[in-house]
Amino acid sequence: MDSGTRDIMSMPRGGPDASWLDRRLQTDRLEYLDRDDVDHLKRKVMSALDRAGRRRWIGIHGKCARMVLREVADVPSPKILELGAGLGGLSSKLLADHPTAQVTVTDIDPTFVAGVAGSDLAGNPRATVRAMDATAIDAPDGHYDLAVFALSLHHLPPQAAARVFAEGTRVANKLLIVDLPRPPAPLHLLLLAVVLPLTRLSPLQHDGFISSLRAYSPSALRAIAQHADPAITVEFRSRRGFGPTVAVARRDR
Ligand SMILES: C[S@@+](CC[C@H](N)C(=O)[O-])C[C@H]1O[C@@H](n2cnc3c(N)ncnc32)[C@H](O)[C@@H]1O
Repeated sequence: MDSGTRDIMSMPRGGPDASWLDRRLQTDRLEYLDRDDVDHLKRKVMSALDRAGRRRWIGIHGKCARMVLREVADVPSPKILELGAGLGGLSSKLLADHPTAQVTVTDIDPTFVAGVAGSDLAGNPRATVRAMDATAIDAPDGHYDLAVFALSLHHLPPQAAARVFAEGTRVANKLLIVDLPRPPAPLHLLLLAVVLPLTRLSPLQHDGFISSLRAYSPSALRAIAQHADPAITVEFRSRRGFGPTVAVARRDR
């Protein structure tokens, strides 16, 4: 194993320059969503996430759809690949908000893919539903205008996240990553302390707590992209504050 691979495998979620406290605010513990032995909890978390995402004004699917469509505004009929689509809320919004976009809706989990395949979304002639691993994308180079991975990258350790950067920028002109923010460590600690008591009451809060500990900082994302391929550049679209981390990666061809 070369030293670059060793460095990325041991890199803290807060990035290579993470503070002492930030390095302690992370975990290898799995979310219910990552486990195969708690199907009912997994389904509960995903349904709650999807319901929250579809809310009219504050739902994350609508916000992500606007981010995606802004990135492909100059393409008349964009071909979009959604990775880690869960129950397909973002893809549904994209199809509703753009009259000619074609969307490939994918996830690694066969149960979620089956759920989407049995929903109204699959009946849309501009939608294709498939199982797909974001770290090994089954598509030719440059096939899509944009690939999006929303609220999902933190599920993967750094080396697998690097595969997402390599593969996403191989098959698409742009890779859009939207994920939980990683607040400054003292604030992060305070927020975690507030949420901790709720993790026993709600499976969604349980997963949210772990997600927050596993969220990557912008410097971690840059290091991961650099490790994936030095030809990949990353720009951040995030605004200051509590909003999600929004990164757009492209590869110099
Ligand atoms: C927190 S959910 C987010 C789902 C959806 N994007 C949303 O915003 O509602 C994370 C999703 O990432 C998927 N996932 C995890 N690892 C993946 C991988 N290697 N490739 C594709 N999807 C993956 C999970 O199956 C899950 O559906």
